[in-house]
Amino acid sequence: MITCKGRAELLKMERATWIVQQTLADCVAACRPGVTTEEIDRIAADGIRKRGGKAAFPGYRGYPKTVCSSVNDEVVHGIPTSKRKLRDGDIVGIDLGVIVDGYFGDAARTAIVGEVPAPVAELVRQTWRALVAGVSAVRVGGRIGDIGAAVEAVANEKGFGVVREYVGHGIGTALHEEPQVPNYGPAGKGERIREGMTLAIEPMFNLGTARVRLGPDGWTVRTADGKPSAHFEHTVVATADGPVVLGFGRYTSDGLVTGVPDETDYPVPAASPRGEPAETPGESRV
Ligand code: MF3
Ligand code: CO
Repeated sequence: MITCKGRAELLKMERATWIVQQTLADCVAACRPGVTTEEIDRIAADGIRKRGGKAAFPGYRGYPKTVCSSVNDEVVHGIPTSKRKLRDGDIVGIDLGVIVDGYFGDAARTAIVGEVPAPVAELVRQTWRALVAGVSAVRVGGRIGDIGAAVEAVANEKGFGVVREYVGHGIGTALHEEPQVPNYGPAGKGERIREGMTLAIEPMFNLGTARVRLGPDGWTVRTADGKPSAHFEHTVVATADGPVVLGFGRYTSDGLVTGVPDETDYPVPAASPRGEPAETPGESRV
């Protein structure tokens, strides 16, 4: 069943997703050479606790950690471990969920560690652009397929593989609600988008083949060809005025701000107009 949320519920989801976004910013800032994914997980657990939320992932279908940390050819659901030290040239997707008063927020970003080859930076940048395109396609009266079509168009433009086995989802009083939100079209098909629908939109793009494999731990998803993959996610509500991305103070009891947070609210690492690397070697930002 697809549920549409009212204002009181959406304010709770805004608070949950705000904690997600603030904590993701902490995690991304910590993605430097020598840091382990276990340490990133600890930063996330501390960040959620100090902001008054509850981590959503621990115990979800037996998942053991607070974040998913997916390095390089890991697509999604990588499990943080003290054995995985980040190195210069890595990319790492950090995915985080939080519960506030029974309502969920879910978001992800891919961080760049130090300097990466230009095609990898481009993959990260375009996956973020696809998230923006997907969010922008959310329109009351439109269809879920419009979102995937917008995401897929970005990948096709650049020749990236679009992961099909894992998709976005409805979200609210559960982490995963109906409907599924694929990262592919066709436009004009799928469930109708209604006012108050809350969706987690999460493009996963691969530098090479779209094909993926599930690892022996039962969680970690990797690209079949070993090439890198990037992932970004927002929790979004469809309103009569347009999509509102939750977690940035854009949904308040006083009013709404539609559209997508730009690079001031949400800096993306490969985002500099000239495509320059970060000024300080080893520095990474999202
Ligand atoms: N954001 C992820 C998703 O929507 C959640 C990871 S699953 C978990 O698939 F088990 F880690 F929680
Ligand atoms: Co999700």
